[in-house]
Amino acid sequence: MPEVIVQKIIPSALFLLNLFLMCEIEVHAKSAQRPIVIQGAMPVEVDQLIQGLEKVKKEKYGSFVFYKGEINRYPVIVSKTGKGMENAAAATAIAIVKYHPIAIINQGTSGGHVPNIHVFDIVVGKRVTNIGSFKTEIRGKNQGITPTRWMPMDLTASEESEEEVKAGQIRYFEGDQALLVNAMKVSNQYHKGKVVEGTIGSSDVWNNEVDRINWLNSLFGTSVEEMEAASSAQVAESFQVPFLGIRIVSNNIVNGEKYNPDTETAGQSYVYKLVKTYTYNLTER
Ligand code: 5AD
Repeated sequence: MPEVIVQKIIPSALFLLNLFLMCEIEVHAKSAQRPIVIQGAMPVEVDQLIQGLEKVKKEKYGSFVFYKGEINRYPVIVSKTGKGMENAAAATAIAIVKYHPIAIINQGTSGGHVPNIHVFDIVVGKRVTNIGSFKTEIRGKNQGITPTRWMPMDLTASEESEEEVKAGQIRYFEGDQALLVNAMKVSNQYHKGKVVEGTIGSSDVWNNEVDRINWLNSLFGTSVEEMEAASSAQVAESFQVPFLGIRIVSNNIVNGEKYNPDTETAGQSYVYKLVKTYTYNLTER
């Protein structure tokens, strides 16, 4: 081989090959980043988050709309789920199968279950639970109905036959620890109320009976109620996807505080700050 090839061309070719491989690895690492999904039931509960996304693309499956974009150059998908447990479950399943998220945050408004949680306070879901799934006592014709004696029923005990389902067992879905820690970390950036860890209760019911709310609170230990989080959490858990529920209090009949629509944007600003911090940590790793 002529000496010039050995001395000049081979080292330059190796350098170029190296450069090419480094770029390949970089591109591959970026495309391998799994997105964070942020869910909200109503347009007013996601609009501001969508505005905070860069490079947004909209995708729709049935009635379920997903806004794919980036925050801090990290992939984030905002999912408009629609209201209620069924919509939340379906939107979660679609999100997991289509986008393989690294984590799911279900956020939005809620009603207070205790007097010391006020409108604009934020409850970070240490745990979420279904407060609409019960087995009633056996009562014959004209023996009446006794809702306060109904027993919580764990719907995830699906392998057992219906006769064997043990009522009285409360099923809690734990909030993901890393998300929870980050959520509490950014709480000092929220100035419209306090941020507390608590229990979020979900069902397809909007409760306005204070005695019933007090009963639910004593049974489940709920801080707030809403209509989606436990359903998303149940589906997320079945796919082992980390989950966190975050709810701003928009109304509290227990202490007489009326619904305030400004809570919808305040809640989203807080979640946006959390996602910025969380994604920053993910990219740093
Ligand atoms: N009870 C039930 N759902 C509530 N929401 C806000 N406050 C309450 C409440 N007190 C939320 C639900 C649903 C929509 C009707 O508003 O999560 O998406």
